[in-house]
Amino acid sequence: MLRRLYSEQPDSFAFTPANQAWAEEQLKKYPEGRQASAIIPLLWRAQEQEGWLSRPAIEHIADMLGMSYIRALEVATFYFMFQLQPVGSVAHIQVCGTTSCMLCGAEDLISICQQEISANPHDLSADGKFSWEEVECLGACTNAPMAQIGKDYYEDLTADSFRDLLTRFAKGDVPTPGPQNGRFSSEPLGGATVLTDKSGETYNGSVARAVALGDTIKRIDGTETALRKVSSTPKASKAKAPAKEPKPAKSTTADETGITKQQAKAKSTGSPVAGEGVKPATLAAARDGGPDDLKMIKGVGPKLEKLLHKLGFFHFDQVAGWSQDEVSWVDQNLEGFKGRVSRDGWVDQAKILAKGGTTDFSKKVKKGDVY
Ligand code: FES
Repeated sequence: MLRRLYSEQPDSFAFTPANQAWAEEQLKKYPEGRQASAIIPLLWRAQEQEGWLSRPAIEHIADMLGMSYIRALEVATFYFMFQLQPVGSVAHIQVCGTTSCMLCGAEDLISICQQEISANPHDLSADGKFSWEEVECLGACTNAPMAQIGKDYYEDLTADSFRDLLTRFAKGDVPTPGPQNGRFSSEPLGGATVLTDKSGETYNGSVARAVALGDTIKRIDGTETALRKVSSTPKASKAKAPAKEPKPAKSTTADETGITKQQAKAKSTGSPVAGEGVKPATLAAARDGGPDDLKMIKGVGPKLEKLLHKLGFFHFDQVAGWSQDEVSWVDQNLEGFKGRVSRDGWVDQAKILAKGGTTDFSKKVKKGDVY
């Protein structure tokens, strides 16, 4: 593939003050005269800040490192991870098109990119929010087909779930990365036979930090450093740490629109806000005929079903009738699973199930494809 600098370049580039301080710290890692070794981290930080690498950015970094421009250009044009033209303001989508993903439906995902974003890879969508490209194997073949969106992997995609992800990103939401078909990680579709105790864990380890930091598609301006340090402590990285509700920093922006991560999430998903909510009507026990199988709702596993029963919820029509305030209350009272109702859209699913309908997820549960 021909990799050239983009035809339209900005006049200049500068790191944000925080990123500049970070870059200067990187230089101290290398002995005098070897600062050029910092070329990749500095180019990467510039790309994290701007979304892509412009000529002024590459030259600015070459100047910082005392390198000739051609040496810096060689690095920037060699590695495919560096984007040499503007990417979508919300997200750049990298769809894996290698064997496993191709056999499992990557071509459908690419068609959707062509329909919804742009006919050709690397072109911006009409609203400038998205761009896409096909990439080689990203090493998540067990969860094929998959796409890297921003910094994270979205796996086990279908045409429907991928289209839904695009819609949610466009609205300012940041969907939880990882498998999108109800799998916890990459266990067999028929269910795990070992390591079955996931008590207390809200997300699998590979996406927990991304969710906690809330930086999936965020442009990095350098102010995240303190947050990263805190979350990198041994205690925070223990397996159970992810069970805590993700807390993006209040000042971090979700994207270039300036909406904070929390605002974007609350706006698009109705995520709970501490102290809000109205307790819905509950039942002391299931009605005659027994409880509905609440595990038909995507996001409800055996533990959550038990918890819902404990709270007095046994039937689809109960969930279907929750108002936004009631959703907030339930979201806050799902110990260990806070925010699941909003995150997985239980009410919409329950409305269908209460009428005797089926969802993609409930079909899979009935077929035994989801444990
Ligand atoms: S083939 Fe797609 S991740 Fe490996």
